[in-house]
Amino acid sequence: MPQEFRFRPFAAPRRTLAVSLGAAVFTLAGIASATTTAEPAAPRAPEAIYQSSCKFCHGHQIAPGIRVAPDLLGRALDPQSITYFVRNGPRGMLAFRKADISDRELEALAKWIASSPAPAGQVKS
Ligand code: HEC
Repeated sequence: MPQEFRFRPFAAPRRTLAVSLGAAVFTLAGIASATTTAEPAAPRAPEAIYQSSCKFCHGHQIAPGIRVAPDLLGRALDPQSITYFVRNGPRGMLAFRKADISDRELEALAKWIASSPAPAGQVKS
């Protein structure tokens, strides 16, 4: 019985060490994956990025003629200003980091938006 007391002090710290080591490995793995996703190897198609990241606000009408954000397609916007807005986020718009949209993807996206015609059904403002 007294022997049991002698070992107890070591039991808890060991378990704690295992937990914190596990947490450290998990954190490092998270940092590693965050850095590797900064520039995706295969760039996504501009249309796919527009559908998943922009159309939700731009080109979305809550009710006929009422938009979350202005339409982007069919306006021949300047690719350089599109790039600026995406990286900096104007009023109410979030800024996209390189981990969200790489420089390569953004260049193609800006050109695609600039040269795309207005989709059928887009209400003129
Ligand atoms: C959460 C909603 C939201 C998302 C998602 C979003 N935007 Fe915006 N965007 C806005 C708002 C709000 C504005 C500002 C409108 C204003 O100035 O009144 C804006 C403005 C812009 C402008 C300037 C438009 C103009 O008429 O001058 C561009 C260009 C733009 N966004 C591009 C993009 C692109 C490209 C994406 C996708 C990568 C995107 N935005 C995603 C909400 C959004």
